[in-house]
Amino acid sequence: MSVTPMRRQYLNIKRQYPDAILLFRLGDFYETFDDDARIVSQVCDIVLTSRPVGGDKRVPLAGVPYHALESYLAKLLAAGYKVAICEQVSDPNGRDLVEREVVRVVTPGTVIEPALLPERRNNYIAAAILEGERAGLAYADITTGEFATTQMESRDILQRLTEELARLQPAELLWPAGSAWPAAFQTLPSARTEYDDWHFDEETARRALMDHFGVSSLAGYGCDGLPLAVRAAGALLQYLQHTQKGALSQLAGLHTYSTEDFMTLDPATRRNLELVETIRTRSTEGSLLGVLDRTRTSMGARLLRQWLNQPLLDRARLERRLDCVQALVEDGLLRANLRKHLEKVGDLERLINRVQMGTARPRDLVGLRRGLEVVPEIAGLAEKMPAGSALAELMAGLDACGEVVDLLARAVVEDPPALLSQGGVIREGFHAELDELRHRSRDAKDWVARLEQTERERTGIKSLKVGYNKVFGYYVEVTRPNLHLVPADYIRKQTLANAERFVTPELKEYEALILHAEDRILELEAVLFKEVCERVAAEAGRVLDTARRLAQLDVLASLAEVAVTHRYVRPEIAEDGVIDIRAGRHPVVEVTLRDHPFVPNDVYLSPEQQIIILTGPNMSGKSTYLRMTALIVLMAQIGSFVPADAAHIGLVDRIFTRIGAQDEIAAGQSTFMVEMIETANILHHATPRSLVILDEIGRGTSTYDGISIAWAVVEYLHHHPNLRAKTLFATHYHELTELAERLPHVRNYNVQVTEVGDQIVFQHRIVPGGADKSYGIHVAQLAGLPRAVVQRAQEILERLERNGTRAPAAGVREPPASQLPLFTLTDPIVEELLQLDINTMTPLEALNTLYALQKRAQSRGKR
Ligand SMILES: Nc1ncnc2c1ncn2[C@@H]1O[C@H](COP(=O)(O)OP(=O)(O)O)[C@@H](O)[C@H]1O
Ligand SMILES: [Mg+2]
Repeated sequence: MSVTPMRRQYLNIKRQYPDAILLFRLGDFYETFDDDARIVSQVCDIVLTSRPVGGDKRVPLAGVPYHALESYLAKLLAAGYKVAICEQVSDPNGRDLVEREVVRVVTPGTVIEPALLPERRNNYIAAAILEGERAGLAYADITTGEFATTQMESRDILQRLTEELARLQPAELLWPAGSAWPAAFQTLPSARTEYDDWHFDEETARRALMDHFGVSSLAGYGCDGLPLAVRAAGALLQYLQHTQKGALSQLAGLHTYSTEDFMTLDPATRRNLELVETIRTRSTEGSLLGVLDRTRTSMGARLLRQWLNQPLLDRARLERRLDCVQALVEDGLLRANLRKHLEKVGDLERLINRVQMGTARPRDLVGLRRGLEVVPEIAGLAEKMPAGSALAELMAGLDACGEVVDLLARAVVEDPPALLSQGGVIREGFHAELDELRHRSRDAKDWVARLEQTERERTGIKSLKVGYNKVFGYYVEVTRPNLHLVPADYIRKQTLANAERFVTPELKEYEALILHAEDRILELEAVLFKEVCERVAAEAGRVLDTARRLAQLDVLASLAEVAVTHRYVRPEIAEDGVIDIRAGRHPVVEVTLRDHPFVPNDVYLSPEQQIIILTGPNMSGKSTYLRMTALIVLMAQIGSFVPADAAHIGLVDRIFTRIGAQDEIAAGQSTFMVEMIETANILHHATPRSLVILDEIGRGTSTYDGISIAWAVVEYLHHHPNLRAKTLFATHYHELTELAERLPHVRNYNVQVTEVGDQIVFQHRIVPGGADKSYGIHVAQLAGLPRAVVQRAQEILERLERNGTRAPAAGVREPPASQLPLFTLTDPIVEELLQLDINTMTPLEALNTLYALQKRAQSRGKR
């Protein structure tokens, strides 16, 4: 069957992009056809029509206006689609079919539209490959030019790989199509792209990298001997080339790194410690990042997030960061000035990147220039600093890129329009021909502007008007009553109800001049703009280096600002395995408490005092203490000051956490299973340099199981020669305090509680020694349970304790069910109350339950 030439063209292109929605440029629209049209119509909520394609055949059609592309892109990406953008690449001449080409494939990991990107975090795309006990992982952010790769080897390689991916949170992950997608990746936010295996082939990958960088060996990039790192990076590069159609000059280098150089944080620990977002609302506010981020630029914000996700193990690097923070803490004026200037810098990193990619708009160039103009002022601040200091060194490397600034200042006007096609972008005096054209065009326009006056005088027609419309161009309009005054050289063009429109040969000439000049001006501006971009792009390396230094300064100044605001101190970094924190505070809780001040606490962990068992009632502050310790260690290892009076931090290679049960309950998983999987992970991977936070393990099962497991875990951590990890263990099973009597490196601590009458008051103060009793019942009282219930509970507790069923060492056993009814259950409400497991309830749940119970009791009272 015969189809139209355009249909044939469409089908040819579509065939090359079977997994993408093809947006086919047709004049002012991007059209989609067939199944693509159905999808677009549904996802973007636009009308589905049809179009003839030859014979009497019609196919479904849905189109979006070209200027609204971004909002439709956002919808399609969010719905999980990839989008190939096909443009007209030759000018329509009315005769031949316009040539069309896909210029870019937009996928979640290759978005470059500023409006669709988060400013303050990276948008990574990653590629990974797994082989035996080894894995390769590469990632890039094409909006900043970052490109890195690593190779890992481990008995639990999949887990290590998932951990590293969890750090990066890539928007898109490439995975060899021939390998099964691991279930462990389910927790990642990444869109999955199965990429043909041959792209991961070592030779293909190596060749792709070498061609891209124009080198004959990868040795200079540090990955020559790491085949999996090469394969991942090469596959990623090929994919980016395919989607970006080769416009990839911003990927100027490849950084090979080792995950061994950084503290390992598993995904659960990242989440539990609420490093960059809270567990409940997933907001930055309320997370550690929320407290630490006082950055002034988006690039600084992105870097701080990177630092936070990747604490260091290298003492020298940490000391350098800390030296900088200290210098900025001590010199308030310097810090204030630096931050004031940084505010004006903007996102140089992404701006220069857009210039390199060829997607910069006129205002991007102005932004770039203004940002760079601030650099000398920032560099000037360094003059008063002691030479050789880490901060001075960082600042000394700033390059104001004078020629770039100069070029941009000469080339681009101060306040250009948003789009190049609107004209008026290139500054007067930059290019002689352009100036000349503009001159002529202006003269001609002036002539036309004066025409009304001169013709009125010449003809004596007072109401004569000169106007312009798209169809006829310039014209002279004379109203009907005056037509007899029209001179002979007027040529009639158009008749209206009350007037006629004329042109004169001279007017036509000027019109041609103006129109020609305007076309030519736009053309020339486009050429010049491109040239300027290319010249700037040639200096991109210098600009980028400066941008990255500014980002570092921004992060360091942010950390210093926070340190001053919240009275943090410089931690002493050591390698002696001792953690000694004096009067430490939880960085987030201390700023969120309203009605009472935060109570600081000490922490001491060392090879001798390796394990702390912390007992205390619910809501007394155990979890806060544990997290505080982890966060202070982590902050020290990103180079931040810490919330304490003093802190000595022996570097930690990993932080493990096993915290709480409520969130997994919400996620519908078996709590106990999750708990045990995470505990197993800890026992398999902890080292003597690790910090382990165990918050109420064993809670997901019955009391006796729980106590027994917790007991065994502590013993194992204590005895196992490869472990000996520093451990903080919070529990409300005060039976576990017996461990300290048996194991030499275990110490008991408890949260101090004072009793006032029969009320208890939480002091939130951690003191040596085990809690001598459980306060669960007091918490019930605090929560407002009826007095009668509390008293009855107290009685039952005493009977249980007298029967010795709470002593585990005597032999762990579950009391037979027949022993349980110590009391007669007459009231269903009381019965329900007694069955509540208050320890696992959130305050809100407790309140809701109470409310419901009270309602029922009240309604019964009325009956
Ligand atoms: N050191 C402290 N100073 C002041 N308030 C604290 C402190 N530690 C905890 N709190 C308060 O007590 C509440 C409960 O603390 P949490 O650590 O969750 O207790 P637990 O784990 O013992 O049940 C916190 O939300 C906080 O408001
Ligand atoms: Mg707790």
